[in-house]
Amino acid sequence: MRPTDAPPLIGALDIGSSKVSALVCTTDEEGRLRVLGTGQRQSRGVKRGFVTDMEATEVAVREAVEQAERMSGQTIEDVWASFGAGGLSSGLATVEVEIGGHQVEPSDVDELLRSGRDAVDRPGQVVLHANPALYTIDDVQGVRSPVGMHASRLGVDIHVVAADEAPLRNVDLTIRQAHLGVRAIVASPVAAGLACLSTEERDLGVALIELGAEVTNVSLHAGGMLVGLRSIPLGAKDITDDIAAAFGVRRRDAERVKCYHGSAMTSPRDNHEVVEALPMGAEDGAEPLRIPRAQFMTVIRQRVEQVTAEVESALKDLGFVKPVGHQVVLTGGGAELKNIADYMQGVLGRAVRVGRPRQLTGLPDAHSGPAFASLVGLALLAGQGTGDIRDLALPTGRPAGPSGGWIGRLVAAMRGGR
Ligand SMILES: Nc1ncnc2c1ncn2[C@@H]1O[C@H](COP(=O)(O)OP(=O)(O)OP(=O)(O)O)[C@@H](O)[C@H]1O
Ligand SMILES: [Mg+2]
Repeated sequence: MRPTDAPPLIGALDIGSSKVSALVCTTDEEGRLRVLGTGQRQSRGVKRGFVTDMEATEVAVREAVEQAERMSGQTIEDVWASFGAGGLSSGLATVEVEIGGHQVEPSDVDELLRSGRDAVDRPGQVVLHANPALYTIDDVQGVRSPVGMHASRLGVDIHVVAADEAPLRNVDLTIRQAHLGVRAIVASPVAAGLACLSTEERDLGVALIELGAEVTNVSLHAGGMLVGLRSIPLGAKDITDDIAAAFGVRRRDAERVKCYHGSAMTSPRDNHEVVEALPMGAEDGAEPLRIPRAQFMTVIRQRVEQVTAEVESALKDLGFVKPVGHQVVLTGGGAELKNIADYMQGVLGRAVRVGRPRQLTGLPDAHSGPAFASLVGLALLAGQGTGDIRDLALPTGRPAGPSGGWIGRLVAAMRGGR
C-alpha cells in the first residue's frame, strides 16, 4: 500500500503506429519527476496514428501499462495519453470584452476568458489545448499581464489545438476498455515539444519535426506554446516497406537493414558493400539475398527525399521562412536514421538537430531516445501541472488536477466558471 501522503502517481501512455509505450512516475520532494517503471509493446491496431483495431490496441495498452506497473511495483488508475494522428489543427481565437475605462482586475480577466469559451469551440472537434497568449488593451497589442492597467476594451489571443472528435473518442474508449481512466489527451507535438525543446527555443521560435513510424508531425513553437501544425501521413515505416517491396525481403529483415545499415546520406563506399536479408516467406536459416548497399541506399533516399520535401512545404505553409537563425529539431524514432539531421539541414538550409527527451531520474536508456519524446513529454506535462492541459480531457474524462494562473482561469471558464 502506498502511504496516503505519498506524492501522486503519474501514468503516461503513448499509442503510436509502431509501439505502445507506458511510463509510471512520481515527483520527489523538490517536485522533480522520478520514473518508477516503463513498458512497451508492439502496436498492432494503429494505422497512421489512428486506432483501427480497438481490441488489438487495448491488449497492447494493457500489456505495456502492466509492464510499467510491475517494474514500478505500483498500480495506476489513469493515464495521460497522446494523440498524434492527422486531423489535429491549430488556430487562433481572439476575444474582447468592454471594461469601461477602469483598472483591469483579475475578475475582468476571468470574464474575458469565460467569453472565450465559445470562441475556441470548433464544430466536430474537441479542443485539446487552449492557451491564452498575449492580451490587448484597447488597440495596444502584446500585453503580457493586463491586471492593474486602465482600459476601455480588454482582449486576448487564444491559441487553440483541436482534434477530430471520432478518432479521439476511439483512443479514449480503447484506454477505458483496458480498465484505465483517461486523465487527459494531449496533442503529441505539444508533449514532444515540451520534452525535447529548450524553454528558450520554445519562446523564441523553433520548428519540431516528429518523424514517427507512420506519421510525421511538423509543429511550430513560439512564445512558449504550439502555434502551428501540419500532419504528414508518412513515416519511417514507409522506408521499411519500400525496402521489403523493392528487394522482396521480409519486413523484419528490411527493418534491421534500415536501422543498422541505412543512412540518409550516400557515400562512395556504398558501391563496395553488400547487406544480407532473407527473402519474403523464407524460413530462418535460409540462404539470404545479398543486396548491394548502393541499391538499398537509393530506396531509402527516395523516401527520405519525399518526406523532407513534404516537411519543407509544411514549414513554408506554416510561415516558417524567416529568420533563418530559427532552428529545426527532429525527433521521433525516424530521427534515429543515420545522418537524417545532416541531410535535412542541407535541404532546409537551416540548423537541424536531433531532439532527445529531457533526461528524467530513473528513465531507462531504452526509453531515452527520440522515439520516446511524446511519452516523456506527457509525464512532464502531468508533473508540472500547467493549466493548458486542464481542458484536455474528453467530455467524459476525469478533470485534471488544480492549477493556477491565466491558463487555469481559462480552463475554469471553459468548464462553466467553476
Ligand atoms: N536507427 C534507426 N534508423 C531508422 N529508423 C529507425 C531507427 N530506429 C527506429 N527507427 C524507426 O522509427 C519508427 C518508430 O518511431 P516512433 O516510435 O516514433 O513511432 P510511433 O510513435 O510508434 O508511430 P507514430 O508516431 O508514427 O504513430 C520505426 O519505423 C522504426 O523503424
Ligand atoms: Mg509517435
